[in-house]
Amino acid sequence: MYTASKDRYTTMEYSHCGNSGLMLPKVSLGLWHNFGDTANFENMKKLCFTAFDNGITQFDLANNYGPEPGSAEKNFGRILKEDLGVYRDELIITTKAGYEMWDGPYGNWGSRKYLLASLDQSLKRMGLEYVDIFYHHRMDPDTPLEETMGALASAVQSGKALYVGLSNYDGKTLSEAAAILKDLHCPFVINQNRYSIFDRTVEKNGLKKTTGILKKGLITFSPLAQGQLTDRYLNGIPKDSRIRTDGRFLKESILDEHRMDQIRKLNELAAQRGEKLADMALGWLLQKEEVTSVLIGASKPQQILDNIKAVSCAPFTKEELKQIDEISLN
Ligand SMILES: NC(=O)c1ccc[n+]([C@@H]2O[C@H](COP(=O)([O-])OP(=O)(O)OC[C@H]3O[C@@H](n4cnc5c(N)ncnc54)[C@H](OP(=O)(O)O)[C@@H]3O)[C@@H](O)[C@H]2O)c1
Repeated sequence: MYTASKDRYTTMEYSHCGNSGLMLPKVSLGLWHNFGDTANFENMKKLCFTAFDNGITQFDLANNYGPEPGSAEKNFGRILKEDLGVYRDELIITTKAGYEMWDGPYGNWGSRKYLLASLDQSLKRMGLEYVDIFYHHRMDPDTPLEETMGALASAVQSGKALYVGLSNYDGKTLSEAAAILKDLHCPFVINQNRYSIFDRTVEKNGLKKTTGILKKGLITFSPLAQGQLTDRYLNGIPKDSRIRTDGRFLKESILDEHRMDQIRKLNELAAQRGEKLADMALGWLLQKEEVTSVLIGASKPQQILDNIKAVSCAPFTKEELKQIDEISLN
């Protein structure tokens, strides 16, 4: 039986999610990879325990995480039931709906029918009465925003979610959605978007700026560009790496000469700062005032231990920030 470390709140830092009362850890753990039915259950437990023992209170899921879709929620539910569940009031558990989940017209996108049925399924798989944050996973061009936002508000009203979030929205749609959610008195607190040294989309599509103006939280997913912004691929492609074990979303072809040159130069800069590349990459995000938390993935407990050091990353000089841009944007 697992007992959480007594020291779990000594090193992690927490900050308010936008102007809400909800505080989130600077580093959160995502269960997109390594928690499906093809992964090792004992390792899943170790990842969760290492995270929680070090103050990572937020665990991020989605209906479709696996493989098979749904299996990450099922496996996390088992971990909750066997060990972590006694700490439920210390945990922020999030899930999402928006991508394809089941056959037919009601298992995808942003209808009220899909979102509310999916949330019920997620709760069942995890053995929970409520999630802390329920997200709409992606914008849906064919469903009225009022309908999708109404479904999120209903999730809260029914007691099945405490807060709601939006994922993969752009600045303009976020503004419109936020206005509707405000009218509905729905506690919308957070945006979840891809953001890293290698992916600056949120700086270009207005999301980051609008998040700041609206005083909402921003949690950044794939902050290490799925492992590229670490020392993982500096000396070839390891057998146990994401590229080799699950090439669905990270393909070997991305590591061309240009990308490898960028990674090597960023790694040298991190070394000059006395840091590992992963910590510099996470620290670069955490030092932006809009960013509430970085949402990492991990295949090994040691990666979590390495990555939480980013919380105490040295401030960046203007020259270092310029160098990072020169290396990564060219
Ligand atoms: N809302 C959305 O649409 C969306 C989309 C994608 C992800 N997400 C969320 O974001 C979470 C994180 O995404 P991600 O897994 O792509 O994040 P990431 O942190 O960019 O990548 C994680 C991977 O990088 C490698 N890694 C991590 N730390 C390392 C270290 N210190 N040294 C060497 N390698 C290291 C590991 O890969 P190896 O397997 O090679 O060890 C690990 O699985 C997901 O779990 C999910 O919750 C949300």
